[in-house]
Amino acid sequence: MADAKPTLPALLVEALHGVRSVGVITGAGVSAESGVPTYRGKGGLYEEDEGKIDALTGTTLLSDPDRTWRAVGDLARHATGARPNAAHLAIAEIEKKVERFVLLTQNVDGLHEAAGSRNVIDIHGSITRTRCMGCGADGELGREELEAIHAAPRCRHCGATLRPAAVLFGEFLPEEKVERMRCEFLDNPPALVLVVGTSALFPYIVEPVLAARRAQRLTVEVNPAPTVLSSVVAWFLQGGAAAIVPEIAREIR
Ligand code: OAD
Repeated sequence: MADAKPTLPALLVEALHGVRSVGVITGAGVSAESGVPTYRGKGGLYEEDEGKIDALTGTTLLSDPDRTWRAVGDLARHATGARPNAAHLAIAEIEKKVERFVLLTQNVDGLHEAAGSRNVIDIHGSITRTRCMGCGADGELGREELEAIHAAPRCRHCGATLRPAAVLFGEFLPEEKVERMRCEFLDNPPALVLVVGTSALFPYIVEPVLAARRAQRLTVEVNPAPTVLSSVVAWFLQGGAAAIVPEIAREIR
């Protein structure tokens, strides 16, 4: 038998009806019900293999790029065949309903874009896009090519090693994306800031929620497990994204 739909608190429903601008922040948990493992927690990729973090650092990329690319290939394989779930689709639906919308995601699985989200700040970049470490040319790897990768790919133009166009551990965030995040979330926080499926370990994930709270905006978190943000937000909705986010989307008019 299917699980009963979660019921949102009446006060939250009322507040959602008046919302015209929305900022959504997501992490790996939004894709958990698409079958993509999270990084931390039970079954998390980092719990399974602690060496993975080391392979995914900027330092390893320089000293042993083949190792970094093998770890990137692992990430891609974990998302093989994954399709957007009800939470990704509901987030894309919210974007169509409101006057102003922005999605800040830490995910590199591309599922938000596949669901139809448009104004996306993919703060950690993408593992299918590449940048040449020699000439700086941008490129793209096919999903299958990436899943089969065993060594660092080379640039078609200059022959130098390519890097994934993603932020590795110990690297700076891309300035242009940080600036967009600042404009959208900090300068004028959206009426609703909805955080879904992130362990919220990074300051640039926590700060937009604190800013929204300070500006007395509506703040909601969806996660089966409490995080540092659960006591900051006005509403912590404990549970899975695929069940709860569509209910939130339905109440936004
Ligand atoms: P984590 O793996 O740290 O956290 C996943 C979160 O999702 C946890 O809080 C879970 O409780 C929650 N979760 C699990 N199942 C869920 C579900 N069905 N619905 C909603 N939430 C669920 O993932 P992130 O917070 O995304 O960075 O991790 C942040 C960054 O750390 C990643 O982007 C990655 C990693 O290192 C880079 O690769 C640069």
